[in-house]
Amino acid sequence: MCSLRDDQLITIVIFVRSNNLNNMKNIAVIGSGTMGNGIAHSFAQHGYTVTLIDIADEALKKALATIEKNLSRQVEKGSITEDIKKQTLANITTHTDLKAGVKNVDLVVEAATENTDLKLKIFQELDAATAPHTILATNTSSISITKIAAVTKRADKIIGMHFMNPVPVMKLVEVIRGYNTSDDVTQTIMKLSRSLEKIPVEVNDYPGFIANRILMPMINEAIYSLYEGVAGVEEIDSVMKLGMAHPMGPLQLADFIGLDVCLSILNVLHDGFGNPKYAPCPLLVNMVQAGHKGAKSGSGFYTYVQGSKDLKVSRRFEKQEA
Ligand SMILES: NC(=O)c1ccc[n+]([C@@H]2O[C@H](COP(=O)([O-])OP(=O)(O)OC[C@H]3O[C@@H](n4cnc5c(N)ncnc54)[C@H](O)[C@@H]3O)[C@@H](O)[C@H]2O)c1
Repeated sequence: MCSLRDDQLITIVIFVRSNNLNNMKNIAVIGSGTMGNGIAHSFAQHGYTVTLIDIADEALKKALATIEKNLSRQVEKGSITEDIKKQTLANITTHTDLKAGVKNVDLVVEAATENTDLKLKIFQELDAATAPHTILATNTSSISITKIAAVTKRADKIIGMHFMNPVPVMKLVEVIRGYNTSDDVTQTIMKLSRSLEKIPVEVNDYPGFIANRILMPMINEAIYSLYEGVAGVEEIDSVMKLGMAHPMGPLQLADFIGLDVCLSILNVLHDGFGNPKYAPCPLLVNMVQAGHKGAKSGSGFYTYVQGSKDLKVSRRFEKQEA
C-alpha cells in the first residue's frame, strides 16, 4: 500500500483549494461607495481581477482615490509592499455599464444603495446579463436573500456576503444562505472569503441575520436608556466600553453606522418578526426625521467636525449643570 508524505498531502490540498478558486478569478463589484470600494480593494489585493461598477462616474473616481489612499497607508505601515499596491490597482477596472461590466465574471458582489426595489431590479439584470455559472452575492445589511433570489432563475446561486466596514481591516464575512442557496455555492463562498484572509461565518436567512439581529436591539436599548433619562450619552457609552470591553459605545457606534441605517434595520426586524421588542425608539425616529443621521450628517449623539477626532456630545444631550 502506498502512503503519502505530509508535504505531498499539503501540496494536494493547496492544489485542490486553488483549483476550486481558479474558477473564481473574475469578480464584479456593483456600487463603489463606502463598502464597494473596500470590497474591490480586498479582492484586487488578493490577486482577483475586479470590475468595479457604479451608475455615477464621480463615485468611481472617488472610489479609486480612496483605494489608492488606503493602499498607501498599508505600505507606510509595512503591511504590503509598493509592488503589491501597484498590482492591486492594476487589477481594478471601472465601468458605468452594468451589462458590459459583468459579461465575463465568475462572481458578482452587489454593494449598491440599501433599497429593496433597487436591489431586486439589479438582480434581475444580473441574472439576464451573467453566464449561468456566475454566483450572485449581495452585501445587504438587512434585505432578505431569499426575496432577492426569488426574482432570479438561479436561486441556488444567490447568497449573502456581508462584509464589515472598513472592509480591508475587518475580518468577518457573514455568509448568509438563502432558503434555496446550494451547499456547493456556500462552500465556494466560504473558501473564497478565506482566500481574502477573512473569517467567514455561515448563518441562515432570517431578518437581521446574526450581526444586526444582536447589534441593533442593543443600540436601540441604549437609545431608550437615554430617552428615559436613565443616563447620559457619555455614561451609557462608558458603561459598555469599560464594563463590557466594547471598543466603542453603542451610541457612538450608531452614529458611525448612520442613524437612518439603524432605523431602517430595526424596521426590517420589527416587520419581519412582528415582535414589539424591535420597535425603534421614538427618539431615534425623531433624530432621523430631523436630519441628525450621525457622523455623516455632522451630528447625532455626538457632533462631528471634519478633520477633528474630538468626540463631543451633541448640545441637545449635554448635561445641565446643577
Ligand atoms: N456602510 C456600512 O457600514 C455597511 C456595512 C455592511 C453592509 N452595508 C451594505 O452595503 C451596501 C452599500 O452600502 P454603502 O454604505 O457602501 O452605500 P453608499 O451609499 O456608500 O454606496 C452605494 C453606491 O451604490 C451606487 N449605486 C446606486 N444604484 C446603483 C446601480 N443601479 N448600479 C450601480 N451602482 C449603484 C451609488 O452611486 C453609490 O456609489 C448596502 O446594501 C448596505 O446595507 C453597509
